[in-house]
Amino acid sequence: MSYLIKSAWQRLEDAIISYEGRPVGTLAACDSQEFALNYDQCFVRDFAVSAIAFLMRGQTDIVRNFLTTVLSLQSCQKQMDCFSPGQGLMPASFKITCQNEVEEMQADFGEHAIARVAPIDSGFWWLLVLRAYVKASGDLDLAHQHEFQKGIERILDLCLTARFEMLPTLLVPDGSFAIDRRMGVYGHPLDVQALFYLALRSAKELLAPENDYIEIVNKRLGHLTYHLRTYYWLDFAHLNEVYHYQVEQVGKDANNKFNIYPDSIPEWLPTWMPDTGGYFVGNLGPARIDFRWFAQGNLMAILGSLASDEQSQGIMSLIKQRSSDLLGQMPLKMCFPALEGRDWEVLTGCDAKNSPWSYHNGGNWPFLLWQLAAAAVKTGNEGLAQRALDIAIRQLPQQDWPEYYDGRDGRFVGKKARKFQTWTIAGFLVAQELLQNPQNLECISFSEDAGVEVCPD
Ligand code: GLC
Repeated sequence: MSYLIKSAWQRLEDAIISYEGRPVGTLAACDSQEFALNYDQCFVRDFAVSAIAFLMRGQTDIVRNFLTTVLSLQSCQKQMDCFSPGQGLMPASFKITCQNEVEEMQADFGEHAIARVAPIDSGFWWLLVLRAYVKASGDLDLAHQHEFQKGIERILDLCLTARFEMLPTLLVPDGSFAIDRRMGVYGHPLDVQALFYLALRSAKELLAPENDYIEIVNKRLGHLTYHLRTYYWLDFAHLNEVYHYQVEQVGKDANNKFNIYPDSIPEWLPTWMPDTGGYFVGNLGPARIDFRWFAQGNLMAILGSLASDEQSQGIMSLIKQRSSDLLGQMPLKMCFPALEGRDWEVLTGCDAKNSPWSYHNGGNWPFLLWQLAAAAVKTGNEGLAQRALDIAIRQLPQQDWPEYYDGRDGRFVGKKARKFQTWTIAGFLVAQELLQNPQNLECISFSEDAGVEVCPD
């Protein structure tokens, strides 16, 4: 193992936190130069990347402990008042404090987060980690324990209960996943829908075979697949259709189901969209397509086989054809293009941290490398992932593993980026591991679900 990889592993080990003598998670960052804020906590979504790295290396104990810990923090009570977390919710992060030599575990459901954003994705990541753990260790007994089955059911209840809407997608507030600041990602953001889909697939594998939820999950998977593959998918042919859409249609036969006005096609898109390839748009709702590209939603759609084989190849083809925009000088861009001018003012609330081409708003995030590598291996595009990794190897260790990069092409280390950001390190290690041992893909990917009927809503 090269010195570089060895020292990256060492850094990941250094981020481990323990509770009552057992390793249970990793800190978000180990940057002694900056005020910790909440980066001294273990974030569920951040640890998911560490978990995959540990699992690929056979270190299953820390992952098992993490799963048990987060389960114990899940909100189990019926919501007593509007300020307590809803039943089934899992925390965004947790922290271990020590007073008079007594350790205490503190969960944060968003009460302490900037702008009090809701952690919609935590339960989904927990399910994905549990499924990866079972695949890697063979320990299905853990998932079949009563408490785990109850935990899974509580997550499903939270997502599958009656709502105001009649759509297969989930309606969520702004900033409720990795993009945890206001960014116009309220409504039905792709990233949440893709994670929801993968979480349902995981739940299906983890529930005891006779569980009644399986049928409900199957049904939802079928509708969700149809909805995303049909209405979120955008290639040049579909864009051309949108350009010619008739509007103000009513009833079942309306082909412009969401009343999208052709004038809402943004100026940058017609020239940017290649003749071949395509992607899932960022959001879809009444009179609204958010045409931005979101890396995580698209790559996770490939990993889950939410995207059809053809769509998966289309996404990879788009990344290749638009690599200077989507990968840039430090792979890869979380969201493209950046919101600028009046859009930035209105949709971010003039958020200076999310100024154009910085942070979530068009910044580049190296932790996403693991998703790129996994999608590349799944679709036979290893060369693309290797090139991305080669760039990362040249810069990340030398620049102390930054959290994110700034600039249109992602060349600058992010202005407010943490150093020694744990998921940057773990994401790099997972990508490296996947390219070397592609069989590791199995614990984080799904093949097309033959048991589900893909049907319209
Ligand atoms: C930032 C990111 C969020 C991440 C957290 C810890 O808030 O936006 O996605 O989980 O930092 O790294």
